[in-house]
Amino acid sequence: MNTNQFGEKGWTPDRIKKLNGKTYVITGTTSGTGFEATKILLSKGAKVVMLNRNLKKAKGTIAILKQELGEAIDIVNIQMDLSKQSSVKKTAEDVLKTVPQIDALICNAAIAQVPKQTITVDGWESQMGTNYYGNWTLQALLFPLIEKSKGRIVTVGSLGYDMGIKTIKFDDLNWEKDYTPNNAYSQSKLAQIMSMYELQDRLKEAGKTDVKAYACHPGSSRTNLINSSGSFMMKFIFNLMKLSPLTQSAEKGAYPEVMCAIEPNLDESGFYGPTGRNNWTGPVGAHKIKSHAKDKTVAKRLWELSEKETGINWNI
Ligand SMILES: NC(=O)c1ccc[n+]([C@@H]2O[C@H](COP(=O)([O-])OP(=O)(O)OC[C@H]3O[C@@H](n4cnc5c(N)ncnc54)[C@H](OP(=O)(O)O)[C@@H]3O)[C@@H](O)[C@H]2O)c1
Repeated sequence: MNTNQFGEKGWTPDRIKKLNGKTYVITGTTSGTGFEATKILLSKGAKVVMLNRNLKKAKGTIAILKQELGEAIDIVNIQMDLSKQSSVKKTAEDVLKTVPQIDALICNAAIAQVPKQTITVDGWESQMGTNYYGNWTLQALLFPLIEKSKGRIVTVGSLGYDMGIKTIKFDDLNWEKDYTPNNAYSQSKLAQIMSMYELQDRLKEAGKTDVKAYACHPGSSRTNLINSSGSFMMKFIFNLMKLSPLTQSAEKGAYPEVMCAIEPNLDESGFYGPTGRNNWTGPVGAHKIKSHAKDKTVAKRLWELSEKETGINWNI
């Protein structure tokens, strides 16, 4: 029996009518799912504010999108390096000054499978610092505008949440011992997802039910992810996988994040992504998430640690 709420084919952008008057802020749009999500949102009439670190690439992205969708599209880029707290804070300030509303903040950018332990300028393991603490600060600083807009926060996680140690390594978050690219990446994606479910609880407790927070993932999609930050061996393996039906297009990988940004009546407690074999490909919808991603004690501790580490409070 098909249990996908969107039917046999799952969620597709055909469900979107018009997004005129809506504004979406999205990170990491120079390639992959971020690029494709941006294209879908623009093609439906939305304004898109891209947050990218590389201005030259961002300019190229705008040129490609204008070529494909026409000069009239409403798109801007604000520079942000997610791996540096100073840059994230400056970007949040710029967004708050120049963007009047945020219907959804889509936290898409990430690095993955960094071959050797690397520490960010702020002192964190690079995947934790970029994928988790970078997003923590961006989300918290933009929260007042998202709240004013009755908007959403969408976190692009990964099935990697279940491929590492399955909890947060509080005693050694920088992986001084036993660093492996997969464990460190998986840890950062688990942290990202956990913080969304914890945020939902905190919003409900505060009676702030106008803001929604969702966790999703793109399955196994043919993007630049491993080519940008992975080791030679990981690139080799992933490029072989790209030739097989175990992977899907970057466009399909973008559907879950677009769905979470715009679809009404989604269950916040769900985990959204492809529902086919292993959740790597297939029709998009809600699927099971393992209980360690919703461990309340760990999530609460992580939240409190994040406030301390970044010095940023959500003021919910
Ligand atoms: N592809 C998959 O199969 C897969 C599976 C599970 C989860 N995911 C998740 O899907 C999301 C999108 O990844 P993707 O697969 O589309 O990879 P991608 O093609 O490599 O895109 C990643 C984007 O993030 C940007 N980025 C990286 N580091 C940044 C930083 N420090 N500051 C700002 N932007 C930064 C990249 O910009 P630059 O051009 O400047 O590098 C790029 O635009 C990620 O959250 C990833 O963890 C992907």
